[in-house]
Amino acid sequence: CVAHSTTARAEIGVIGGSGFYSFLRDVTEVRVDTPYGEPSDSVFLGDLDGRRVAFLPRHGRNHHLPPHRINYRANLWALRSLGVRQVLAPCAVGGLREKYGPGTLVVPDQQVDRTKSRVQTFYDGEPLPDGSRPGVVHVGFADPYCPSGREAAVTAARGRGWEPVDGGTLVVIEGPRFSTRAESLWHASQGWSVVGMTGHPEAVLARELALCYTAIALVTDLDAGAETGDGVSHAEVLSVFRENVGRLREVLFDAVGRLPKERLCPCRNALDGLELGIRLP
Ligand code: ADE
Repeated sequence: CVAHSTTARAEIGVIGGSGFYSFLRDVTEVRVDTPYGEPSDSVFLGDLDGRRVAFLPRHGRNHHLPPHRINYRANLWALRSLGVRQVLAPCAVGGLREKYGPGTLVVPDQQVDRTKSRVQTFYDGEPLPDGSRPGVVHVGFADPYCPSGREAAVTAARGRGWEPVDGGTLVVIEGPRFSTRAESLWHASQGWSVVGMTGHPEAVLARELALCYTAIALVTDLDAGAETGDGVSHAEVLSVFRENVGRLREVLFDAVGRLPKERLCPCRNALDGLELGIRLP
């Protein structure tokens, strides 16, 4: 039974594949409308460790949306409208250093945007369907990830016997193709750690809604500059992700339980003093 959201609520959001919630009992499927169009899929609400969690399959439940076609604004808006204030965002990435091989877990503390075609703000001057018009808003993004969420993720990973990389830079490319060897070598030479396709604009849109956002990046391959074979293949990415999804789910669930019930991090103040022009859900 699919409910339309009016009363459904959650405090924590997880943006990731169906592997993260499909076996939970008593999951409620909710469709959420947003002024920005449709989210990637329904949102699935469940209880974990006494916390109410909203799961959203980033690519749709059948993985039909490529990274550049995801309606990131609708996804974040939908989660916030359900009451979500903290988001955990597992994602697959390529390692830019030999030591970050498949199976490495990285909880980045920095990000570089190399996407090209994505709407990356809610405050773009376009009126909303209700007639309100967003103001000109510049959010701080010096530290793109939530410090409390990162700590929860790192501690949870250690508790599950995974030695995560605590920090590092995730560079986000437009995709859907993988990087050339030259691009990859350049990314590595900048000191960046891992490369993915979905971390931007997800993180900045979360910040624009004053949400906490934590990326939890599973390395599925060595990117073209760090390996010596034929480059990255989609099949390899899927297979390593499948192999690790159980472990990653345990980390994610433990991290949910470790997120603070009361937010004391700077993320919650991201919009203080700004003239938004629109009312956030
Ligand atoms: N996602 C998983 N592996 C990747 C890679 N090598 N480059 C970009 N995105 C990825």
